[in-house]
Amino acid sequence: MDDLRIKRAPRIEAEITVSGDKSISHRAVLIASLANGPCVLRGFSRSADCMNTVVAMRALGITIEQPEPEVLIVHGKKRKLTAPQGDINCGNSGTTMRLLAGMLAGQPFKSRLVGDGSLSKRPMARILEPLRLMGAKIEAEGEQETAPLRIEGAPLHGINYSMPVASAQLKSALLFAGLFAKGKTTMQEPVPTRNHTELMLNYFLVRTHKDETGVSVFGDHVPESRDFSIPGDISSAAFWLVAAAAQPGGHLLVREVGLNETRTGLLGVLVRMGAQVREAIEDVDQVEPRGIVEITGARLKATVIQGKEIPQLIDELPILAVAGALANGTTIIRHAQELRVKETDRIAAIAHNLRSMGGQVVELTDGLEIHGGAPLHGTRLSSFGDHRVAMAFAVAGMFAEGETVIQDVDCVATSYPGFEKMLSELCNPKGFRTTTPVISSLSHSRAEEE
Ligand code: S3P
Repeated sequence: MDDLRIKRAPRIEAEITVSGDKSISHRAVLIASLANGPCVLRGFSRSADCMNTVVAMRALGITIEQPEPEVLIVHGKKRKLTAPQGDINCGNSGTTMRLLAGMLAGQPFKSRLVGDGSLSKRPMARILEPLRLMGAKIEAEGEQETAPLRIEGAPLHGINYSMPVASAQLKSALLFAGLFAKGKTTMQEPVPTRNHTELMLNYFLVRTHKDETGVSVFGDHVPESRDFSIPGDISSAAFWLVAAAAQPGGHLLVREVGLNETRTGLLGVLVRMGAQVREAIEDVDQVEPRGIVEITGARLKATVIQGKEIPQLIDELPILAVAGALANGTTIIRHAQELRVKETDRIAAIAHNLRSMGGQVVELTDGLEIHGGAPLHGTRLSSFGDHRVAMAFAVAGMFAEGETVIQDVDCVATSYPGFEKMLSELCNPKGFRTTTPVISSLSHSRAEEE
């Protein structure tokens, strides 16, 4: 288990790219596996989570070549999957387990999904209940409906379901189950969540439908084999965007990053906190908008993050909590109880680590109240085995007095294998490519919009 050591960083002045979006990569490989021929996926995320999905689909009889680290050739077999030889190990990946459970529920064979210690504690009842209503024979072997999941494989029928939690993983599990169900499957979300599954199904010519009654998918469609290029992960870029935003005069340009509006809630929050943010969508050819984000830092001020905004930035809350600690005033995060059932209880982990660094924070049942502005000092911190906690506090270390040591940072590979390299380049910028402001030539300013 490696430690990561961080010292106070110089001001950021850089132009970067980040690796492929994790959420989109999962969906691309799942849908391409069902297509009627080979699909080339470029910009695939090399994260451990996405590789778990690749290994799972290989275990289900799909040939997947990887000619380059970020290129996959997925040989879709027209929705034909074969029974796996043994358990399918989803590792730490909730997306792999929940989306696969949906896809496997309607197959004519048995399967069993297992995960690591953290995934085996995460709630699965949210997917089991609607899948059972569709006719699935699926059992959770763990306490309180947790993994391992044992799936019998049964004929499914469409349902109309009102989701009790705002979860893109739940929605996507039902969309994948709906592809193998008789008739139409419709679901209503309490609050809109990331829409990558719907967009990607449409890109692969599988019709989904959205209106006031919800999102629907129809059974029996075969995705058309097509190539797809995955944009950079805004949730990975978030760490550097916040680092630059919290440095007065800091300046960062992120190129080729995904700008799907169900994922960019972070940018609006940083504008409210006083940073200057511009974004320009450069390409929407492949349904997922991608482009440039440019940020200029400031002395940040506190904000309130709550309500419908939460699902649009759920994965960014650990780094936004760090932004709150660096800002003047009291930042409040509410309606984020889902953080308690992520890779770790992120509310408790963030509160613990911020306090250890000298921050003032009150834990709420569904969020955090952060009294910002207190100077942070370096210390030894736990990652709690959670990639986003590890990375958020590595960035906090860039602002702390003295050395910050994050223990057990191997988990960072879960979503962002290049994180440590980028951290060291930004902290030791000698020879690193820098940029002059391009703000005036970009098309869209968040500040104007707010
Ligand atoms: C994800 C959805 C979110 C997010 C997770 C990835 C996805 O989880 O936190 O990192 O790819 O669908 P929930 O659907 O559980 O909110």
